[in-house]
Amino acid sequence: MKRFLLLPLCLVLTFAGCEKKAEVVKAEPAKEAPAKKKEFKMYEMSQMAALMEQMYVDNMRLKERIIKGDTIGNFPQHFLNIHASAMTDESENDAFFKMQAGKFLKAQELIYKDSLNAKKHFNDAVSTCVKCHEQKCEGPIPRIKKLYIK
Ligand code: HEC
Repeated sequence: MKRFLLLPLCLVLTFAGCEKKAEVVKAEPAKEAPAKKKEFKMYEMSQMAALMEQMYVDNMRLKERIIKGDTIGNFPQHFLNIHASAMTDESENDAFFKMQAGKFLKAQELIYKDSLNAKKHFNDAVSTCVKCHEQKCEGPIPRIKKLYIK
């Protein structure tokens, strides 16, 4: 009858969704703090969540370069992994997600293809992040909006 012990274990391992992110609960500091690294989060990230965090950091750096007028380099190829990365909840990988992922990549590519208008294209790309998140994962939206170049 040892088999029964395994079942509760499996159940414990399946939770790590968008809703219960620590940063949703954490209050924002009153003064706008400069973008800095968040403390290490103690939960198992999906491939998709890790990719998202990477895209966030990459775009934060890109934002700085656009503001300074530095060269902006090449489209980061790993962004294409948005199509195939494993998600916390695979049922989220639906038609809306796929369509919105396509729009996001197009918008992100334009930053590099038409770098004279990098600022505009960058902000458009951030809007496609937000669009998808409004449907899929609202928690990180306040953070994502900090990417906008004013
Ligand atoms: C096509 C939809 C879509 C687009 C576009 C998108 N995201 Fe996400 N994002 C998601 C989903 C779904 C998750 C949850 C992934 C998971 O838990 O497996 C997520 C998770 C995140 C997270 C939380 C990761 C964590 O720590 O759990 C951040 C931060 C994030 N996205 C930032 C961004 C940024 C920045 C962009 C644009 C550069 C972006 N996202 C574009 C759908 C999207």
